[in-house]
Amino acid sequence: MPTQEMRGAAVLAGLGAWLPPHVVDNHELSQRLDTSDEWIRTRTGIGQRHIVTPGMSTVDLATEAGALALRSAGSDQVDALVLATATPDQVCPASAPQVASRLGLTGIAAFDVNAVCAGFVYALATASGLIAAGAASRVLVVGADTFSTLVEPNDRGTVPIFGDGGGAVVLRAGTPGELGALGPFDLHSDGELADLLVVPAGGSKMRRSDDPTDYFLAMQGTAVFRHASARMAESSREVLRAAGWAVDEVDSFVGHQANVRILNAVAKHLGVPKEDVVVNIERTGNTSAASIPLALTDACVDGTLKPGDKVLISAFGAGLTWGSTALRWPELADVESPHREQRIVQAAAL
Ligand code: COA
Repeated sequence: MPTQEMRGAAVLAGLGAWLPPHVVDNHELSQRLDTSDEWIRTRTGIGQRHIVTPGMSTVDLATEAGALALRSAGSDQVDALVLATATPDQVCPASAPQVASRLGLTGIAAFDVNAVCAGFVYALATASGLIAAGAASRVLVVGADTFSTLVEPNDRGTVPIFGDGGGAVVLRAGTPGELGALGPFDLHSDGELADLLVVPAGGSKMRRSDDPTDYFLAMQGTAVFRHASARMAESSREVLRAAGWAVDEVDSFVGHQANVRILNAVAKHLGVPKEDVVVNIERTGNTSAASIPLALTDACVDGTLKPGDKVLISAFGAGLTWGSTALRWPELADVESPHREQRIVQAAAL
């Protein structure tokens, strides 16, 4: 990891997340795929996932999440929008400008970052760089993906794992010592392993294919599992070392929600107790770039993350890409649960 000289810092000032209303649970999936609730829960920890319905896209999820983060920050004044996504509305152009316009922010800098499931950590680092360079003083960072559109509908190896969603934060210029200051960052990639998770067709290398499955995600699950566990642990250790934190100082580990067994393996490698691992995958599935801000939102709303807590964040994705960062949790206003339909059900049951 390069030496990171702290010149000012990007500080977390707002948080929000949004899930599409349509929920597909494991029982519904097992009616059309050769799988079961028991297999999916024990192998992945997933119980349900939220899925976009026709007419709803990544830009919609990103816009909803972005609006909630701006509301939480108490201001819609931002100079830039960075959107982490691997499922933009179109191959070209990027989706970020459309999200900015939908939020009434036409004119600001807006671009996509594609580091797949590690995208949100990459986007946080990119936004922190914009702030450090003086190119922006407030940045909206959104992670949104619709992997339900990339999985082959009959593939029991991928359909149960992925869900759709959006999450976002507002970062503002601040100082390294204050609560909410992000960093250090640790980012990596290994393109030699690109084939472990790939959508072969649709890009410049294979515009068209006669095999319809080439347009869907092909995943070598067991190899991905092994790399994800090892790389997130290595990268987390780097961030702890650079931050000067002992592992037992970590109050919460917020890892990419790909599989609860991966999160437990990373925690075991690191020596973080299971009870300090934030897990919300049961309700969301793997939402790719939205996973970290969704997990932060859930953990903030349920009181797991408290002001002053030391929070370690790590993510891993196709590419391969992976990265980590850390912060001491700030006081945040107006952070809402993304599980609105569940709140309605609970209220009705009272
Ligand atoms: N339902 C029932 N059985 C299934 C199944 C499903 N949905 N998917 C696979 N199986 C079967 C397999 O066919 C295999 O059967 P076999 O032993 O008769 O050949 C068996 O279950 C074990 O499959 P395997 O792939 O070895 O299981 P696993 O323990 O590795 O779990 C994953 C599979 C995909 C859940 C796991 O490898 C994983 O989570 N990988 C990482 C995926 C990921 O995180 N991707 C995104 C990265 S950002």
